[in-house]
Amino acid sequence: VIRPATPDDVAAIVNLLADDPLGRIREDTEDLKPYHDAFELIAADPRTSLAVYQDDAQSVIGCIQLTFIAGMSYRGERRCLIEDLRVATTHRRRGVGSALVSWALDQARLQDCGLVELFMHRDRVASRQLYERLGFGQEHDGFRLRMR
Ligand SMILES: CC(C)(COP(=O)(O)OP(=O)(O)OC[C@H]1O[C@@H](n2cnc3c(N)ncnc32)[C@H](O)[C@@H]1OP(=O)(O)O)[C@@H](O)C(=O)NCCC(=O)NCCS
Repeated sequence: VIRPATPDDVAAIVNLLADDPLGRIREDTEDLKPYHDAFELIAADPRTSLAVYQDDAQSVIGCIQLTFIAGMSYRGERRCLIEDLRVATTHRRRGVGSALVSWALDQARLQDCGLVELFMHRDRVASRQLYERLGFGQEHDGFRLRMR
């Protein structure tokens, strides 16, 4: 089942974010306060959607965040930004990640988006393959400026 995340899912989502070589360095599973604060902002934002994948045992084994962005270019086309796609290491290579991205594409269609985009760390081999298999192409270079 892919469903909207609730406050009860926050700890599971943080564990998913940390269950990854890059996430292990930047997440803190001991202090959930900043994540609960962020969840409140997400829940109050009608343009942002945080979803989880729940397996038959009711465990949260995947997550994804979508933001729907209005824009002027492409004749005012709406776009969907995918962030924080994660699948538990114990459940990878079983189609969960693909199911989450396919769900995201359905949501983007429902929101009448003409584009779906994402940033990916250049070291991520698995997600590169996953997105390419689903038809995504690397058309742009991403830039980031860290503010803290
Ligand atoms: C990327 C990630 C979400 C994939 O989730 P998943 O449930 O394992 O993905 P799927 O089972 O749907 O895999 C679909 C396809 O992606 C590719 N893929 C997935 N994992 C791969 C890996 N470790 N190496 C190479 N290709 C991989 C394969 O083409 C795979 O199809 P196949 O199993 O038939 O060969 C998961 O590995 C993950 O959470 N990684 C850490 C975080 C991350 O990179 N997130 C994305 C940030 S942009």
